[in-house]
This record gives sequence, structure tokens and C-alpha cells, in this order.
Amino acid sequence: SGYNVAIVGATGAVGARMIKMVEQTSLPVNSVKLLASSRSAGKQLQFNGQALTVEETVPESFEGIDLSLFSAGGSVSKKFAPEAVKRGAVVVDNTSAFRMDPKIPLVVPEVNPEALKLHHGIVANPNCSTIQMVVALEPVRKAFGLKRVIVSTYQAVGGAGNRALKELHDEAEAYLKGEEMEAHILPVAGDKKHYPIAFNALPQIDVFEEDGYTHEEWKMIHETKKIMCGGDMDSKDIKVTATCVRIPVPVSHSESVYFEVEDPKATVKGIQDALAAAPGVVLQDDPDNQIYPQAHNAEGSKDTFVGRVRPDQETPQAFHMWNVSDNLLKGAAWNSVQIAETMDKMGLLHMQ
Ligand code: A2P
Repeated sequence: SGYNVAIVGATGAVGARMIKMVEQTSLPVNSVKLLASSRSAGKQLQFNGQALTVEETVPESFEGIDLSLFSAGGSVSKKFAPEAVKRGAVVVDNTSAFRMDPKIPLVVPEVNPEALKLHHGIVANPNCSTIQMVVALEPVRKAFGLKRVIVSTYQAVGGAGNRALKELHDEAEAYLKGEEMEAHILPVAGDKKHYPIAFNALPQIDVFEEDGYTHEEWKMIHETKKIMCGGDMDSKDIKVTATCVRIPVPVSHSESVYFEVEDPKATVKGIQDALAAAPGVVLQDDPDNQIYPQAHNAEGSKDTFVGRVRPDQETPQAFHMWNVSDNLLKGAAWNSVQIAETMDKMGLLHMQ
């Protein structure tokens, strides 16, 4: 016996990783159902060396499903997550559809697993750039208290999906041949203008809000507060601000994080020790030997790599660090499956 698992968005960039993470999970798995849109119905994908046929997502797809992992866009989650819950499944949703609902837990298992107890069927998986930042900040908060965070991100193209990745490759090829680069998707598929990402850096991820911040920046601010400040997305306990930038890296987000701590006795060594001992974190911090986290090396790993820990030279109790993680794994597929594993251990996941 084991769980009957559905993966919604199985043909996507995150979906492919969800399949891998379910192959590797410590959860007992009885069956796996791969769901996508009607466009991919009939397509075959491998699960544990076995060919599975992708099916169109309809309400009845969730009959008998115990655990459903969603990563097919917010509107698909809004439409089908309640259908899955109605049929007895727990949904771990990787989209932004439910993240800011005060009744729905937003969880990073290393940081706030206890929030899972409050679930009513749906658990939200945070934004990729938020997850790797809070994994690296939580050990600092525990050891020294945390007052303020200023983050600048260097985000991979894979976070925008498979079509955006293809666009990066096509543009790079065109550029190297001396041809015009064509942009149709980035920075945001639905926005008015598109710009090349190859050989470029785009300070726009998601749409602009009225206050001049992008929605990605808004998510990093409010999701961090919801996760680290007991569910309050507007908490004043930790001040957070963000600048989010897309760079032409296929997979793995990097972040430059400035943070101020409460404890005047905090030192670089103390922060490094806290990071080295923290779950999900690998400290790579040896400037003398040019050791620091790199996007290129993080791909395929479930960990968050942290380095370049150093004091601010003018502000007391302030530090900088650099963190890198595979945005499609810890930022999405792995965090979702890790939520399910944590719920199983807490007795919150059931076989029908
Ligand atoms: P499909 O391949 O059938 O379009 P990505 O993030 O890489 O762009 O992937 C998006 C994922 O969401 C794909 O698996 C895609 O399936 C799926 N998807 C898109 N629209 C729907 C829909 N209306 N119903 C179910 N799945 C959808």
C-alpha cells in the first residue's frame, strides 16, 4: 500500500522535476498519475523506467488521489485544487493562487513546518526566490534575531517555464550568428513588450504593481513575512525589500542578501557556524581558495548553497551573503515533495 499521487503540469519544466522527486521520495507511493492540458493528452513520460500516459486534467482525474502536486499555472490550480480536495486529496500547490490566503499555510519545511497543522486540504509552496532565501536566513534568525533584509536576485530563465528556456537558446544562437534576436515571452508572457534575455539582464520578473515594485518583488517581501513571522504577510517584525532581476542562466537562482541582526554579538564566524549546521544549507565560503556558490554547480541539488558571508563595513550588526539554489528543485518540485514527506511524518497525509 502507498499513496496515490497526481502531478498536474507534468509536462512542464517544474513537472519534469516533480516526477523525479516523486521517484526519489521516501513516501510510500502506490500509483502516479500524470496530468496536463488536452494538448499533451496521450503523450508518454517515464516514471521509474516505466512509460506513463499523460491525461487531460478534469475534475474526475482526482478520484482516489491522496496527494496532488500542482504546477500548471494559477488558474489551473484555482479551478482544480478544490476538485482534488473535494475528492479527499491533499494538494501541494506550487503556483501563487493561494499563497496569500490567510487560511492556507505557506510552508518551507526547514522554517515553519508547524503551519502545516492548520491546513484544510491545500498547502501553498512559496515562490522559488523566497524559499532559498528563507532557508538561508532562518538559521541566522534563530541564532541572532533578524531585523531587516534587502535582497537583489539573479534569477534563472527556467523559472519562467520551458518556452522561456527555448527562447533563451534561440536568442543565443541568433546572437552568435550575428542575427537579430527575437523575444516573444520574457520578461512576462502576458505583458505588452518583450525583450531578449540572452546576453542581457532584465530588471522585471512578473508584472509591475502600482508602487513601482514588480509582483515578484512583492511576493518575496510578503511571502518572507508570512513564512518567518507566524503567518502575518504584513508583519513589521522583519523589514524586507527586494529587487528581482532575470539573467541568462538556464537553472538556479542566485541572491545577494543584506541583513541586519538583533544580537550585537553576532560575528561572521557565528553566522557561518549557524549556516553550516542548518538543515538544507551547504556552506561554501572560502574566499582564499575562491570557494563560493555558483548557479552552474547548484543545478540538480536539493540544497541551498551559501557563501561570501561578510560584515557590512559601515552599519553595525549588518552582514551580506550570497545564496544559490536550483530554483526548479528546492524552489519548486523538491519543496513540494518535502512538504508532503513532512505532512506524512506529522500524520497529516492519509491513504483513502
Ligand atoms: P501542456 O504541456 O499540456 O501545455 P511550463 O511551466 O514549463 O510552461 O509548463 C506548464 C505546465 O502546465 C505544462 O505541463 C502544461 O501542460 C500545464 N498546463 C497549462 N495549461 C493547462 C491546463 N489548462 N490544464 C492542465 N494543465 C495545463
